[in-house]
Amino acid sequence: MDDTIRDMHAMEILDSRGNPTVAVRLELADGSSVVSRVPAGASTGAHEAVELRDRDMSRYRGLGVSQAIHNVNTIIGPALKDLPVTEQLAVDQRMIEIDGDPQKARLGANAILAVSLAVMAAAAKCRRQPLYRYIGGLNAALLPVPLLNVLNGGAHADNNVDIQEFMLVPVGAATFREGLQMAQETYQALKALLQSQSLRTAVGDEGGFAPDLQSNRHALDLLVEAMERAHLKPGQDMVLALDVAANELKQGDGYRLEGDVLTGMQLIDYYQHLVRDYPVISIEDGLAEDDWDHWQLLNDRLGDRIQLVGDDLFVTNPARIARGIDEASANAVLIKPNQIGTVSETLEAIRLTQSAGWNAVVSHRSGETEDTTIADLAVAINGGQIKTGAPARGERIAKYNRLLAIEQADSSLSYAGWEAFRR
Ligand code: PGA
Ligand code: ZN
Repeated sequence: MDDTIRDMHAMEILDSRGNPTVAVRLELADGSSVVSRVPAGASTGAHEAVELRDRDMSRYRGLGVSQAIHNVNTIIGPALKDLPVTEQLAVDQRMIEIDGDPQKARLGANAILAVSLAVMAAAAKCRRQPLYRYIGGLNAALLPVPLLNVLNGGAHADNNVDIQEFMLVPVGAATFREGLQMAQETYQALKALLQSQSLRTAVGDEGGFAPDLQSNRHALDLLVEAMERAHLKPGQDMVLALDVAANELKQGDGYRLEGDVLTGMQLIDYYQHLVRDYPVISIEDGLAEDDWDHWQLLNDRLGDRIQLVGDDLFVTNPARIARGIDEASANAVLIKPNQIGTVSETLEAIRLTQSAGWNAVVSHRSGETEDTTIADLAVAINGGQIKTGAPARGERIAKYNRLLAIEQADSSLSYAGWEAFRR
């Protein structure tokens, strides 16, 4: 059969931070081939699947992935030889069994995901379908609203802003293309605004600016002003989303914010005030990854007004998402395939999320490559949202350009717009 795996080769490549990551070239029996590349996080959650790193300090400061490469070439490859790529679940299951560790620590989630993504891409190629159509079938109907991280703090930047990401959300656009343009013009307006105030315009890992600012509110004021300078109506044409990455703020039982240590309740009050004063439609990781009690209180307080997204809380893990649904901890899940390590488990996490009426927000990592799989995934699942960085830096732009190409080629798809945030 043409759709069976003939061979696969893993290779150590570099991600957008210049750190090593895993690429896999998979060859089918018919001679055709595909390449996949996996991303890597910086503010990674404790409950994520394990990214296997060599820890050999004589290479790449210990960040080499030669062991993961070796695992693909000598263990996974031979075990999957001659299996059909259309059997995604069986392939993924096989790798999960061989690994045997709940966090995929033996073969490495980076090794496993690279193969899983390559298998999916190869199957789409065999079927002669665009990747989003192969994954989503006839049901794929929506182009996502992009959440563009244009101002950085936290672990992604060397400045004094605590909130990791401030994102532009062009909900009022009629098409994806128009939404991207609105965001790009706001990003450029923000740059000019920063320059006019002698603030730094160097960018962080995801392409957002990373100036030293007086406070988080200062950042929000600048974003609202940038929208106005780009001739947009804040709250109507464009809204804002935050990723607090609150794990990184944790201090003892509390959270360190702008020089003070706040209790979980005080932090919730703080968010309530931000949401009152600014057009913030979504807050991700407002609380730490194991602070389930405060997550529930936050959702109780704000969950009927804004989107509350669990990233480090859920780590794309169906078991943790099930607990969140049970306890009404949030109303959305950030979906990062490399947090769980296979395509099948990622799709299971998405099904579970959506079956609870929650939003599934497909996301990049801060360390990315030119791989654009997540753009197709966002379209395939009708998630209505994608988080993939600023309108700058090649590895971020690759995803946006893929979405532009999908929109251009397929008139059956429509832009999610406000609908993405109406549950
Ligand atoms: P990471 O950050 O990829 O460094 O984990 C992205 C995020 O927190 O959403
Ligand atoms: Zn996050």
